Amino acid sequence: MNKLKLKEQVESIRQAFGYIDRFKGKTFVIKLSSELISSPFIPVLIKDLVMLQRMGIRIVLVPGARSRIDEILDTYNIRCRRVGGIRISPPESIPFIKMAAFDVSNKIMTILAEYGTNAVIGNWVKARSIGVRDGIDYQSSGIVERLQSDIVENVLGDDLIPIFPNIGWSAKGKPYNLSSNELACTISIALGASKLFFLTNGKTLHAENYSLPADSVVAEDGTVIQLTVTGAGEFLEHNNNPDDPFRDFITLAHRACTAGVKRVHIIDGAADGMILKEIFSNRGLGTMIYANQHENIRQMNANDIPEVLRLMQPAIEEGILVPRTTADLEERVEDYHVYEVDGSIHACGALHLYDDRQGEIAAIVVDEDYADFGIGNKIIGYLIDRATTLRLKAVFVLTTLTADWFESLGFTEVSIEALPPSRRKSYNRKRNSLILRKRIPQRRVKTAIAVE
Ligand SMILES: CC(C)(COP(=O)(O)OP(=O)(O)OC[C@H]1O[C@@H](n2cnc3c(N)ncnc32)[C@H](O)[C@@H]1OP(=O)(O)O)[C@@H](O)C(=O)NCCC(=O)NCCS
Repeated sequence: MNKLKLKEQVESIRQAFGYIDRFKGKTFVIKLSSELISSPFIPVLIKDLVMLQRMGIRIVLVPGARSRIDEILDTYNIRCRRVGGIRISPPESIPFIKMAAFDVSNKIMTILAEYGTNAVIGNWVKARSIGVRDGIDYQSSGIVERLQSDIVENVLGDDLIPIFPNIGWSAKGKPYNLSSNELACTISIALGASKLFFLTNGKTLHAENYSLPADSVVAEDGTVIQLTVTGAGEFLEHNNNPDDPFRDFITLAHRACTAGVKRVHIIDGAADGMILKEIFSNRGLGTMIYANQHENIRQMNANDIPEVLRLMQPAIEEGILVPRTTADLEERVEDYHVYEVDGSIHACGALHLYDDRQGEIAAIVVDEDYADFGIGNKIIGYLIDRATTLRLKAVFVLTTLTADWFESLGFTEVSIEALPPSRRKSYNRKRNSLILRKRIPQRRVKTAIAVE
């Protein structure tokens, strides 16, 4: 194998290790589209999910049953109308809808059993009728009222995979047909999930079909790869076809992120290994809707300078950071960012820009009292997101004592030749810092259709 390829593979493995650590013990709620469940891709996909569970990620599955319900209702010649994507379920259809819902759940359970993993199908969802809205009686179509989270927590604690059929029961045991997308969203909120996935069968959110907010990120192939939660709200204002399944996904993603779920991913479950790539690399492949993870980080202003210099002082005294003056910080004030909680600055970092689309990450310091809380990692993540938005190709850092930490964040050592020419000139050979660099995945930022 050629050396470059081997090096790339080793880097991917290292990157994966970092993500395994980060996600251990975290909850991922995964909604599988009904078409995906009847596709040939499902065994491989379930096998990947089993691997994730064995790594310590708590997996919750919500299989969609829409196409199986259609099939069974067709067989028994029962017709149900749809309004705005919701099936109106007359009471006589409910036994068949239940049959379809448990049929798909059983199918998933059987595949899990083939891979030696235990699962439980449960009746942990309390539901009530949608009722009559705008004169339309939704009959036995329901909405989730409450999840019995304590029982689900116990199931997860026993290393089992809970499977949720799209049925909920009233307090008196009356069954209701639920939207499995909505169910997945509610479960992710109730369990405080780190991630909610909507796995489609081949469909992706494509930029050309929508009016997008200005801060959305679009890949070269036109896939919308990132929306902030605010952007998702704008998306919903400007794209209002109620029958579009992506509108439903974005609505629920917006709801989940607003209620504390960190990330929602809409990805093509039929593409081999897509969910693994999404989890174990920093290259988003589907659409990610994310809550603002940078809420404590903001640009530094001139009034912050004395506090930032004080924060840097111990690292300067130890020779970890090169000394900086008030004038140095004033000159590049917009490059500096601070991590602030309740009015106090606990960390800082800078991104200096160079002509060749590279950026230097510098002046990274976290207050010792706040060490090991992941704040350093957050600052780096923020600066890398900023580099991505600015369409930089790479960021680099010069360090004498902190190379291991940067390596753990995916930076790799490079020679001085990799530096932008002007930075090469100012490189202090006496200090002899190591140079580490991280490439930024290339993305196209959509600015053409701005939302007012
Ligand atoms: C390096 C620094 C920014 C890390 O900040 P932090 O918020 O504590 O880091 P995180 O919480 O994101 O990460 C903590 C992990 O990094 C490790 N770590 C911290 N400093 C490290 C170092 N110098 N080398 C290697 N690993 C380090 C911790 O041991 C911890 O590992 P664990 O998760 O296995 O327990 C902080 O220690 C600091 O301000 N150091 C002094 C200034 C400095 O070195 N700046 C970089 C200049 S180039």
